[in-house]
Amino acid sequence: MGISADLDSDTGEESDTVSDSGLIVAVDGPSGAGKSSASRGAAIALGLRYLDTGSMYRALTWWLLDRGVEVSDAGTVGNLAAVPRIDVGTDPRAPWVRVDGTDVTSVIRTREVTDAVSAVAAVPRVRAHLIAQQRVIIAKAGGIVAEGRDIGTVVAPDAPVKVYLTAEGTERASRRATETSRSPAATRIDQDRRDRLDAAQSGQAADAVEIDSTSLSLDQVIDIIVRLAREYSGVPHPRQQSR
Ligand code: DC
Repeated sequence: MGISADLDSDTGEESDTVSDSGLIVAVDGPSGAGKSSASRGAAIALGLRYLDTGSMYRALTWWLLDRGVEVSDAGTVGNLAAVPRIDVGTDPRAPWVRVDGTDVTSVIRTREVTDAVSAVAAVPRVRAHLIAQQRVIIAKAGGIVAEGRDIGTVVAPDAPVKVYLTAEGTERASRRATETSRSPAATRIDQDRRDRLDAAQSGQAADAVEIDSTSLSLDQVIDIIVRLAREYSGVPHPRQQSR
């Protein structure tokens, strides 16, 4: 059992990055708000590592389904939570996830896993186990953008930069529908169901900056997160430097 993160490859080429600062940027929000793309983009721009905590819940869910475990059986799921070894790569340019050495980066995005993951993520022993491991990864990273549902409230409540990324339900469903090639209406039904199931595990920290991405481009969202991180770190934004 256990988890580890790949911290080897370098991501911080830019001289105006905040890499090695130990900065923790927490990005929370519902599915479809654009957390992953924005978090990865911000991590690259800032020269920070990147942690997708949802991928860890997905990896465990894939492993349980692969073994034929009924994910609604919370007792069994809780008993098995610490059995598989889950490794995650934290290079924002190429994140990956492995379960017991098997690369599951793609297969954890299938509909089967997406439909089952909320039940797994709701099990307290699953959360305790994965949150403890997320904290170790964050502590060792030397600066990281971590995204999920509870980063700013539970996993890293002391993170100095916290973002809560939202978007209107219709816009979120339409973005997801483009990714999955399912209809926006069917995607919306699934999204509402997942929102309900994930609500108990999700939270907006009181000190989080809320970004509504409904009418923002990805680059605009990244820019806001990068500015917040640079402001906190005292690193001027490139456009401010050139003035
Ligand atoms: O962001 P995502 O769709 O990949 O997340 C997968 C599931 O994991 C989703 O049901 C919410 C849950 N999750 C969680 O409970 N806590 C986190 N920190 C991240 C994800």
